[in-house]
Amino acid sequence: MSDQRLRKAVNATLTTFLVALLLATLLANTEEQKLGAQVYEKKCVMCHGQDGVGDTKAGKMMKAPDLTKSEWKNGTSSTELAKTLREGLGKMPKYEGKLSDEELNAVAEYAVSKFAKEQ
Ligand code: HEC
Repeated sequence: MSDQRLRKAVNATLTTFLVALLLATLLANTEEQKLGAQVYEKKCVMCHGQDGVGDTKAGKMMKAPDLTKSEWKNGTSSTELAKTLREGLGKMPKYEGKLSDEELNAVAEYAVSKFAKEQ
């Protein structure tokens, strides 16, 4: 094989590899978003509502803050929220042992992207 043909072959292989990697990343992201939305639906909506405003029966009883307006005490990165959820906060239950790390990270990512105010 000439140098040039070899280079072309290597380039083609690299391109294919990069495209595959990109697709895999995109797919993993949508999977995480889906999981986050599912966990939020099951575990969080009852207090915080679909829109994060907390205008539900349980939300009012527990005085759940409006997540779209109020500052978050422990910070608004998904890492910080995952930690808050793991440990609980005030009347919010703790999810350590109730949700897997994967579920915690996914739901934290979801809540931050949907509700957190731009900082
Ligand atoms: C039983 C009701 C209830 C449930 C269920 C609940 N929360 Fe909360 N949440 C609260 C209350 C009450 C607060 C305010 C706690 C405080 O500041 O004392 C709160 C606070 C928060 C905050 C602000 C945190 C901060 O640092 O100030 C976020 C974000 C949040 N919840 C997200 C979630 C997510 C995501 C879920 C689901 C995994 C969830 N909550 C489930 C009642 C609930």
